[in-house]
Amino acid sequence: MPAIAPTSIFDNVTEAPPDKILNLSVMYKADTDATKVDLGVGAYRDNNGKPWVLPAVKEAKRVLSEDPSGNHEYLGVGGVPELTSGAAKLIFGKDSPALADSRVYTIQSISGTGALMVGAQFLAQFKPVKDAPVYISDPTWANHRAIFETAGHTVKTYAYCDFETLTLNINGMIKDLKEATEGSIVILHACAHNPTGIDPTHEQWEQIASVMAERKLIPFFDTAYQGFATGSLDNDAWAIRRFVDYGFEMLVAESFAKNMGLYGERTGCLHTVSNSQEITRRISTQINRVSRATISTASAHGGKIAGTILKDSNLFSQWLEDLKTMSDRIKEMRDGLRTLLEKLGTPGTWNHITDQIGMFSFTGLNATQAEYLKNKYHIYLTDNGRISLAGLNTSNLDYVARAIDDVVRNVPKN
Ligand SMILES: Cc1ncc(COP(=O)(O)O)c(C=O)c1O
Repeated sequence: MPAIAPTSIFDNVTEAPPDKILNLSVMYKADTDATKVDLGVGAYRDNNGKPWVLPAVKEAKRVLSEDPSGNHEYLGVGGVPELTSGAAKLIFGKDSPALADSRVYTIQSISGTGALMVGAQFLAQFKPVKDAPVYISDPTWANHRAIFETAGHTVKTYAYCDFETLTLNINGMIKDLKEATEGSIVILHACAHNPTGIDPTHEQWEQIASVMAERKLIPFFDTAYQGFATGSLDNDAWAIRRFVDYGFEMLVAESFAKNMGLYGERTGCLHTVSNSQEITRRISTQINRVSRATISTASAHGGKIAGTILKDSNLFSQWLEDLKTMSDRIKEMRDGLRTLLEKLGTPGTWNHITDQIGMFSFTGLNATQAEYLKNKYHIYLTDNGRISLAGLNTSNLDYVARAIDDVVRNVPKN
């Protein structure tokens, strides 16, 4: 046998940059200080800082555990039928013309990330303009770029946040969309934009739809916070439904991680909308093929839990209450933080904390200030100044407000 060369055939493998959000969570867990606060986590916590199993989920699990026909067989390639049909109604509305005309195909996915990846791979092969880029907002959830680049797309950004005023830079966004190559794919956060918490108004969505129609851009909605943003499932799906009314063909990645608290169960759906039943049928065969090649079949446990909640009217009502519990607590924390900062006279304006919606607030703090909060106060947040309101509770709110007051006064922005 010839001697194996002492150098590795993988010598060309360079170290990948660490995932900032996952890294933050590791640092938080390793911190032994009793006052530590996790404002990096993108998961709901109750007022005791603990993960919350939704009562609707608890009850669905009980129902499933008592079902004598329950088993652990593989799901079909489409996933749990109660989940996919319920999820499509949740997104498009039960009276949606696209659903009535069978122009929607829905497949169960590995949560929102898996839905984005299957959609990204499908588009890499079938996007109408070969080499057209994918546009993501500046800023956005960090995984967007990674997912679409991994699937082979060129990724560009469109303006989104006015970093001075912490409001939507609608003029910049419209300008970038106007200049985008025809056939580009545009990733849009359906509600509760991550990381900024800044959503377009209905009027601004109309402007976005209009320029996208004019430039023949393809919407790919990412909805990870439906019902969590305003507490209303319908309000939070408004933009998607409006784009369907407009006649767009599009994709939607849906996650049940946040709104059902099924983070680790990896439960979600990918929806595609086309303008004919026949095209949707053909798309469904290709989406099934991509999904089969990547995950084979979706994971059953979370899919059955979510499907049980969506099909049972009592469980569905309980879920609506659970959503309200979560969104009300987040709102209370927003109000509380703003009130305390204003009471302390912390330099700057703090209305953006209550103007923004969803789980996150883009505070305007920078990386140096975030580092100071971590080192002096054991408060963990991402270095773009995003905080998760879910990490706040009545026991740590005052501590966090005072820490922010200190950092704003004593650590200049530049
Ligand atoms: C904007 C956005 N999209 C998608 C996801 C996907 O999450 P998951 O794969 O856990 O459903 C997240 C999670 O943080 C998100 O914030």
